[in-house]
Amino acid sequence: MNDYTSQILDYSQNPPNYGKLENCNYTLTAKNPSCGDDLTIFLKVENKIIIDASFLADGCAISKAATSMLLESLIGKEIGKIENIKKEDVLNLLQIDISSTREKCAFLILDALDTIAS
Ligand code: FES
Repeated sequence: MNDYTSQILDYSQNPPNYGKLENCNYTLTAKNPSCGDDLTIFLKVENKIIIDASFLADGCAISKAATSMLLESLIGKEIGKIENIKKEDVLNLLQIDISSTREKCAFLILDALDTIAS
């Protein structure tokens, strides 16, 4: 097991930002239709800056790790920057090759974030 794989396992088993965020401004959800797993993320925003973020998930290690890592990276960023997040950003955080069958897991967080515009 390499460092990145163990980091993903650690994030999936003990995500530092797991749980419901009280007094959040945004609650966003997504569901992976291929497995039925779902994700809810919570964002707290002040003066257009994301000051806190957390999530609840019924999902696999990849989806939890990707969500946890990406949400951590959003703290301190402008809420408007969310629309610029690309799949490559998630892959850069994970630092592992994702098979096509697991892409939906890794990018479930992006599906949730996409709903912010709707
Ligand atoms: Fe369901 Fe990965 S297997 S989100």
